[in-house]
Amino acid sequence: MRPIDLRSDTVTQPSTEMRAAMASAEVGDDVLERDSTLARLEDRVAGLLGLEATLWVPSGCMGNLIALMLHLKRGDRFLAPAQAHVLGSELGTGAWLAGGMPEALAWEGGPGRPTPAQVTKAAGAPGPYYTLRTTLLCLENTHNFAGGAVTPLAEHRALVAAAKAAKLAVHLDGARLWHAAAALDLPPSALAEGVDTVQVCLSKGLGAPMGSLLGGSRAHIAEARRIRKMLGGGVRQGGVVGAAGLVALDYLPRIAEDHTKIRRLAEGLRRFGLPAPVPDTNILLVPVPDVAAALVALETAGVRALPVGPAIRFIAHRDLTTADIEEALCRIEPLVPVLRGA
Ligand SMILES: Cc1ncc(COP(=O)(O)O)c(C=O)c1O
Repeated sequence: MRPIDLRSDTVTQPSTEMRAAMASAEVGDDVLERDSTLARLEDRVAGLLGLEATLWVPSGCMGNLIALMLHLKRGDRFLAPAQAHVLGSELGTGAWLAGGMPEALAWEGGPGRPTPAQVTKAAGAPGPYYTLRTTLLCLENTHNFAGGAVTPLAEHRALVAAAKAAKLAVHLDGARLWHAAAALDLPPSALAEGVDTVQVCLSKGLGAPMGSLLGGSRAHIAEARRIRKMLGGGVRQGGVVGAAGLVALDYLPRIAEDHTKIRRLAEGLRRFGLPAPVPDTNILLVPVPDVAAALVALETAGVRALPVGPAIRFIAHRDLTTADIEEALCRIEPLVPVLRGA
């Protein structure tokens, strides 16, 4: 049976067009100078984000880590929404390599986000020399473990304003910023407004085999280039993967199709009596009483998903068709008693 892979939007295969672009990419040596294809990609994404410059990095984790290393001095505290990727899913590198003290902020502002008042309170007032310094707010839009939750523009602005008033730098983990922008019908640049740095992924939903861009001021990106080299992320003929990234960006106008697919899955699951919410974007979290049993049943039926806390996570992506979603629902229907813990 052909598995229907809803584990992540990173499971996509490079398209034929992407492979052809990779094979014929014009390349240079991006450590000695800028590889021309990577440079085109970096400039195009800087334009999409409304920022002075971006830097290609192999992964979202490296993009976030470089940002934290740019903004934090050893022992500085940084704030992030609870269950942010930078807090729990990057192997502690924010502390280990960037030297930061993480502080999770509860989602009092809505799914995946704190309120501006929480930011102000957590930042505190500057104290005497012996007090802990808080210097950075990390946002995440969409918030993966809140089920792809979108932070709307007004809230984004209010959070950035609260951080700036408290003299915090702001980094935005925008691994799926594209999805947030599509859901709000805004350009991605609107949701990067006011931030010092932002990380966006080409490998989540857009179909590239690898690659993220870290965006910010020219000065931040020049320093980021040094840190990337230090972390072993300097690439030589990077245009080979840069070309894949350029093709991946062409999917941006279609990304909301993946939101429609996952909404259809959610609707079907609700019809089966399962507590599936209406997802904001392409991620659906369905709480189940026994996650392990549910995953085994799904896998046996050829539907692949992942656990997130007490829920099963399903993610739609460009390699799945609407017919695949209907087929997934047919395969899930007989498993409903297991998913309901009956
Ligand atoms: C919100 C978020 N940030 C960062 C990352 C890290 O990206 P990568 O897997 O490319 O390191 C992920 C990965 O899923 C993510 O969901």
